[in-house]
Amino acid sequence: MSSLPPAPLFGEPLPVAPSQPVLDFLARRRSASALTLTAPAPSEGQLADLIRIAARVPDHGKLAPWRFVILDGEDKAAFAIRLEALAAGRPDAAKLIAKLGKLKAPPMAVAVIASPRAGEIPEWEQLMSAGAVCTLLLQAAGAMGYGANWITDWYAYDPEATAVLGLAEGERVAGFVFIGTASEPPAERVRPDETALTTRWTPPPA
Ligand SMILES: Cc1cc2nc3c(=O)[nH]c(=O)nc-3n(C[C@H](O)[C@H](O)[C@H](O)COP(=O)(O)O)c2cc1C
Repeated sequence: MSSLPPAPLFGEPLPVAPSQPVLDFLARRRSASALTLTAPAPSEGQLADLIRIAARVPDHGKLAPWRFVILDGEDKAAFAIRLEALAAGRPDAAKLIAKLGKLKAPPMAVAVIASPRAGEIPEWEQLMSAGAVCTLLLQAAGAMGYGANWITDWYAYDPEATAVLGLAEGERVAGFVFIGTASEPPAERVRPDETALTTRWTPPPA
C-alpha cells in the first residue's frame, strides 16, 4: 500500500508550490554509513514508492536511460558470495573482500543501472540522468526515515562483477544505493564552502 498521492495523469497541471518541510529536510539530510544499516528495510510497498519517486528525474528526450536491480535477502547474500569468489582470485583479494562489507551489512541494495540509448541525446546527459536517479532515491529513502548510502566500489566497475549483476553491453552501474534502518545517527561531514564555488557571470570588459 502506497503512502504517496496518486501519480499525476499525463498532462495534468502540477502547480509549483513551496514546501518548507522539503527544504528543512534537504538542508540537513545526510547519508548514513552503509555499515550501520540494519533491518528493517523498506517494505515492498515502500520500495515501489521509492522507485516511483526515483524515476521522476529530469530525462532529456524521455528515454528513461536507466533501470533498477533490487538485491535483498538471500539473493543479495548469494550476490556477495559470487563477488567474494571473484575477488578471491585477484592479487588484492583481501582488500576487495573487505570492501564487500558495505554490500553485506545493509538489508537492501538498489543498483541503478545506466542504460544509454543510441540517438541524438548525448550519452553524458543520459549518464547524468542516471546519477540524478541515485540522488533522488537516496533522498526519498531518507525522507521515508531510512538510512541510505550511494556506493560504487570495485564491483560497480569490474566487468566480471557487472556480468554477475546482469549488465548488458553498454550498461554501467551508476550506483548501489544501500537502504536500511540506521542503527546510529550519521554525524555531519565536512562540507564545502559553496559560496567559494559560486560565481556570477558578468560580461567581460569590451
Ligand atoms: C558516484 C558516487 C560513488 C560513491 N562511491 C563510494 C564508495 O565506493 N565508497 C564510499 O565510501 N563512499 C562512496 N561515495 C560517497 C558516499 O556516498 C558518501 O557517504 C556520501 O558522499 C556522503 O555524503 P552526504 O551525506 O552528503 O550524502 C560515493 C558517492 C558518489 C556520488
